[in-house]
Amino acid sequence: MTKSVTTEMRGDIAVIWINNPPVNALSHHVRSGIVEELAVAQSMAKAAVLAGYGGTFIAGADIREFGKPPIEPMLGSVCATIEASSIPVVAAVEGNTLGGGLETALGCHYRVANPKAKLGLPEVNLGILPGAGGTQRLPRLLLNPTEAVNMVSSGRPISGTKAQEIGLVDQVSDDTVEAAIALATEVAGKPFEDRRLSKVELVTTPEVEAIFETAFGAITKMAKGAAAPLQAAQVAKAAYNVPFEDGIALERATFMELVASDQSKALRHIFFAERQAAKPPKDVTGSPREIKKIGVLGAGTMGGGIAMTYAEAGFPVTMLEMTDEALDRGFATMESNWSRGIKSGRITAEGVAERMARLTRTTDYKDLADCDLIVEAVFETMEVKRDVFRKLDKVAKKGAILASNTSYLDVNAIAAETSRPEDVLGMHYFSPANIMPLLEIVRADKTADDVLLSALAVAKKTRKMPVIAGVGHGFIGNRMLTPYFRQANLMVLEGASPEQIDNALTNFGWAMGPIAVSDLAGLDIGYKSRKDQNLDEHEARVYLAADRLVEAGHLGQKSGSGFYIYDKATRARSENPEATRIVEEVRAEFGINTRTISDEEIVERTMYALANEGAHALAEGVASRASDIDVVYNHGYGYPRWRGGPMHYADNVGLKKIAEKLSEYGDGAGGAHWNPSDLLMSLAEDSRSFGDWDKDNS
Ligand code: 3HC
Ligand code: NAI
Repeated sequence: MTKSVTTEMRGDIAVIWINNPPVNALSHHVRSGIVEELAVAQSMAKAAVLAGYGGTFIAGADIREFGKPPIEPMLGSVCATIEASSIPVVAAVEGNTLGGGLETALGCHYRVANPKAKLGLPEVNLGILPGAGGTQRLPRLLLNPTEAVNMVSSGRPISGTKAQEIGLVDQVSDDTVEAAIALATEVAGKPFEDRRLSKVELVTTPEVEAIFETAFGAITKMAKGAAAPLQAAQVAKAAYNVPFEDGIALERATFMELVASDQSKALRHIFFAERQAAKPPKDVTGSPREIKKIGVLGAGTMGGGIAMTYAEAGFPVTMLEMTDEALDRGFATMESNWSRGIKSGRITAEGVAERMARLTRTTDYKDLADCDLIVEAVFETMEVKRDVFRKLDKVAKKGAILASNTSYLDVNAIAAETSRPEDVLGMHYFSPANIMPLLEIVRADKTADDVLLSALAVAKKTRKMPVIAGVGHGFIGNRMLTPYFRQANLMVLEGASPEQIDNALTNFGWAMGPIAVSDLAGLDIGYKSRKDQNLDEHEARVYLAADRLVEAGHLGQKSGSGFYIYDKATRARSENPEATRIVEEVRAEFGINTRTISDEEIVERTMYALANEGAHALAEGVASRASDIDVVYNHGYGYPRWRGGPMHYADNVGLKKIAEKLSEYGDGAGGAHWNPSDLLMSLAEDSRSFGDWDKDNS
């Protein structure tokens, strides 16, 4: 094996290179390599530079080693060894300098950064805190506690330029390694005791205490149930209150506690799940087709957001609508959506103009003839979709990819309308499409490999999180909503208030509860789709209150009232007495005796219903991995990331318990609609998990 840490002598300066692709993570061999090479450097050089190969310094500890028995040297002691070096060490900070990577740079005596480098402490995103001295060295370097607490608790990286502004690095240079060598040459032989951050003495003041107190409140609010951000901030505060060694001991103890926590396991699970989901399936070969120009059909809610996404990524886009008026409306909405960012400084007026200039408008299908990818976002009816695809088949050039943004419909049937089903797939974006990161890529039976690869490449270019799904009503995410909403609505009939349902689930960590989501989406949407389906008596009863609300003009937020009433100015919600009356009316009609429903039951019934439907999707091949389902729910539905996702959560609860509960609930309200999944039941019987299923099937 080639060495991952090597030394190159540049005159009197030892340049210690770290080479551990793809991101120079601090795996065990890298940590020991740094210690060994630094020992040699001290015997033959006057100063050293620590640099990363491939234009990137170090992206942090090796996450794959977490949860395994620790192997010496631990990163904390590597940083201490660097700091204690008899010769000055300069970090050449380029590319990703994250987590343990930044902590390593803090162990060095000087830092030179590329202006575009990304410096950050993203540990909290993995449910942990910087565990190699970062919480104690950073406050000693920055002196401004606000900057330090922000970096430690938010996980957000900053640029090299910003890092220089706040005193995190000494210099910035485009030629980072050469500048670091020049600085090492300059400081060689000079005293550098005051550059050892562990020796800096910090004292607290009433101002510092107040800054942390305010920060703690804000962090608790932002974290929405995630534990690490507040703990990271609290440990950083210790830098002001206790000696360095005690701070390090506290950091270590908190790190060990967090790394073993369910939250950290869940966040690490989702980190790897995201990377796995973005990879092409194993059976897919070839390379993506070239996408230079994109067509979007429909300039409504979704078409507008999708076109914005493409224009933001630099693609020229032709938008087709039925009428000029519809185009006028769509273009005005896109412009106003972008322009809203001008005030907050997210975008300039020129930026808006530049994006708008990438959009062309038409009502003539022939104008789509030069597009390499055409995505339709027209009305959700099969007849309209069929008609659109027949027309596209006539005008689209050979090799153009034809995609549908349908929420539920059969992409095989849509593809069959064309003479080229191999060029057809689903690209299901989420609303608002320019903001929501999820993209379900629906692989139809005949979708060609290179078409699938092209959709993955477009997702990457437009910074979307892709998950490949199979054809099936509602694909992965929307399909699973049905039993989730069913349980929420049933429990309202059984005695829970909408408020209790929503609060129980936001307390669980969801961004919004299901009843509030129905009001936001518009109760009329479900109403219309239910009218198109032939619901059985039980299912019709579940949604009867919602249907009667629609018929009485309570459509949800858009009409000012639904299950709740919404304040016009603030959108704050309160009980809708009319909804309460309608719910009571339905209860009386069907002789439902209400009872007290615990928050625990609300969480169990909704979360187990989700996991059960996820298991059906797996068994049918609509989802290929349980971890893909978790990614879908994290990125498209506001599921709390620190719980990992509905399938990971189910594994945590234990499939045995869930199987028992499914049977128990199946005997009660909702009866047959629980439809326990054979896959879930058999995994439970074998004391296995969805994670095990993923391993067996990867
Ligand atoms: N450890 C192990 N593997 C890692 C890793 C890490 N820290 N960071 C990335 N990887 C792996 C990914 O899993 C992926 O592997 P794969 O190809 O087998 O799927 C590969 O490297 C490439 O990663 P990405 O696809 O994410 O590449 P990008 O170029 O899109 O992004 C990145 C690069 C911004 C560095 C991103 O990978 C990232 O955010 N990594 C995590 C950074 C992080 O959280 N660092 C802190 C670690 S915890 C720590 O340092 C604890 C310390 O305080 C003790
Ligand atoms: P919308 O009603 O806001 O927009 C549809 C637009 O398509 C309208 O502007 C209409 O004029 C245009 N249109 C209709 N038929 C057309 C045709 N034959 N040719 C050209 N333009 C035509 O609808 P929305 O919400 O944007 O939905 C569009 C599609 O996206 C649907 O398939 C829907 O299921 C799907 N979707 C919707 C989501 C949402 O939250 N609204 C989320 C994800 C997918």
